[in-house]
Amino acid sequence: MTTRARGWGGTTLSAALLLAGGLALAAPAQAAEMDVEVMAGACTFCHGTDGNGVGAAIPSISGLPVEQFEYMMTSYQEDANPSTVMGRIARGYTDDQITALAEYFGSKPFERLPQPWINVAMIPEGKELAAEYCESCHENEGREGEGVGILAGQKLYYMEFSVDDFLNEHREMERRQARKFRDLMDAQGREGFTKILNYYASVN
Ligand code: HEC
Ligand code: HEC
Repeated sequence: MTTRARGWGGTTLSAALLLAGGLALAAPAQAAEMDVEVMAGACTFCHGTDGNGVGAAIPSISGLPVEQFEYMMTSYQEDANPSTVMGRIARGYTDDQITALAEYFGSKPFERLPQPWINVAMIPEGKELAAEYCESCHENEGREGEGVGILAGQKLYYMEFSVDDFLNEHREMERRQARKFRDLMDAQGREGFTKILNYYASVN
C-alpha cells in the first residue's frame, strides 16, 4: 500500500511538473492576449465597443497611432492634460500595459458614427475656418497629422472640452498652434471654434 501510494504519487508529481512546464511555456503569450482583452474591457464601458464611443463627451479611442495613445495616457498620469477620470484610470497601468492597450485599440478602425447633436447649420462656415486655422496640422479633414490625434468624427463635446483646456492653458499647446488659436479667437471669438468643431464632428 505504502509502495503503491508512493509510486502513484511520484507519477502524479512528474505529470504535474510536466504539465506545469508545458503551461509555463505556453502561458506568456496566452496570458498577454487574455490580459489585454480583460484590460480593454474596462475601457469599453465608457469608450464603447472596440473604443468607438457612444456618448457626446467621451472620445473614441480606436485607430490612434500607438505613440499618440501612449502620449495621451502618460500625460493623464502626470496631469499634464487635465481630465475628469482618465488621470486616476491611467495611473493604474504600467508602461507595458499602456503599450499593449495602445496596440489593441490602435488596430481597431475608428468608426465615424452619426452625432445627432451636431448643429448642421455651422458646418459650411466651420469647414472654411478649419481650412484656414487648423488644417495645416489636422490634415485630410482632421483624419490625420503628425502627433495631433483624430478630429474627423471625434465626439463633439469632448473636442469642445479639449479646446477650453487649451484656451485656459490647462493643456499645453505648441507655439504655432497657440498662435492659430489666438488669431481665430481675435477674428471669430469662441464661437469660431464651435463652428469648426461641429464641422470636424460631422466628417465621415
Ligand atoms: C469612466 C469612464 C472611462 C473609462 C472607464 C475609461 N475612460 Fe478613457 N476617457 C474618458 C473621458 C471622459 C476622457 C476625456 C478625458 C477626461 O475627462 O478624463 C477619456 C479620454 C481617453 C483618451 C484620450 C483620447 C483622445 O484621442 O484624446 C484615451 C487614450 C483613453 N481615454 C484611454 C482609455 C483606456 C485605455 C481606458 C481603459 C484602461 C479608459 N480610457 C477608460 C472616460 C473613460
Ligand atoms: C500647429 C499645429 C496645430 C494647429 C494649427 C492646430 N492644432 Fe489642434 N492639435 C495640435 C497638436 C500637436 C495636438 C495634440 C496635442 C496634445 O497631444 O496634447 C492637437 C490637438 C487638438 C485637439 C485635441 C484632440 C484630442 O484627441 O485630445 C483638438 C480638439 C484640436 N487640436 C483642435 C484644433 C482646432 C479647432 C484647430 C484650429 C483652430 C487646431 N487644433 C489647430 C496641433 C495643431
